[in-house]
Amino acid sequence: MTKNLLRGFGGALAVSALALSALPAVAESFRLGLITPPPHVWTQAAEAFGEELAERSGGAHSLQVFPAQQLGNEAEMLQQLQSGALDMAFMTVAEVSNRAPSFGAFYAPFLADDLGHAARILRSDVAQGMLDELPEQIGVVGLGYGMAGLRQIVSRGEVDEAADLAGLKIRITPFTPILDFYNALDTAPTPMPLPDVYDALANGQVDAIDMDAELIWGLRYYEHADTIIESNHMMFPMVALVSGRVWALLSDEDKDLIAELMGAAVDGTIDVYVAEEPGWLEQIQGTDRTYVQVGPEFFGDVPAEWDAIWSVRSDMLDDLRAVADATRE
Ligand code: BEZ
Repeated sequence: MTKNLLRGFGGALAVSALALSALPAVAESFRLGLITPPPHVWTQAAEAFGEELAERSGGAHSLQVFPAQQLGNEAEMLQQLQSGALDMAFMTVAEVSNRAPSFGAFYAPFLADDLGHAARILRSDVAQGMLDELPEQIGVVGLGYGMAGLRQIVSRGEVDEAADLAGLKIRITPFTPILDFYNALDTAPTPMPLPDVYDALANGQVDAIDMDAELIWGLRYYEHADTIIESNHMMFPMVALVSGRVWALLSDEDKDLIAELMGAAVDGTIDVYVAEEPGWLEQIQGTDRTYVQVGPEFFGDVPAEWDAIWSVRSDMLDDLRAVADATRE
């Protein structure tokens, strides 16, 4: 196929192909990678996007979804997107923030009061506008946000106050904003990709994990814990990405179709978490584990310390805090 041949030559030909703004629509088989396991909300949304793409393109396009890090971790997938070796990904904003630090502002502690508030922040013009910077900043096209639930803490020991977490090895998603949060909390943050978390918690390699309700419940992390702290301390956005090189080779018609369907697929995950998270939390609360609900005061000065660090690193922190204030109910 024309576009795949162009892609195969890479280098100079691929660069000159970038100048072609609107090739005619050609049948394409796209590949989309993500780190979440097959039953996860994000993976289900990716599969649904593939089905919709095949249907709406009259069978011309197809999508192969590679879940559970089959194509590598997020850093590796982002490199593949940049080179054009991978077409698409649903990726944590965390990984994007490693390359485009302004996105780190989404992890400001207690930016969102609840999931409905997180949804309004992600759907704001300010958040949507940040996607416009991605092609120039890191060579990928951002087509919309999704999310997972707010972050909670699952601990193998009893926790009555934040001081009980001091020195504990707490599993975190490997990225800087959350590392800074747990450093400020005087813990020993332990970056670890999602697929390694279950065994690490079960065998005591870590004392606690930073996680969302879907996975605490669905992957039964709570079974290896004494205390679940419902803290809702951070939101966890996801972004739909297309390789900038691949995007440049698409017809305008295909760009419009993919932008519409991929954007809707990730946006739909927001509605799933808003609807489902209370149920997951209720089920976790119904187990025989100690369940504590805490607010920002539990973390003392940590949110302010985090803001002091990130107001320098991200030029979007003030803007997103302003959006949060304006959309608070
Ligand atoms: C995590 O690393 O905790 C995570 C990654 C993707 C989706 C949900 C959770």
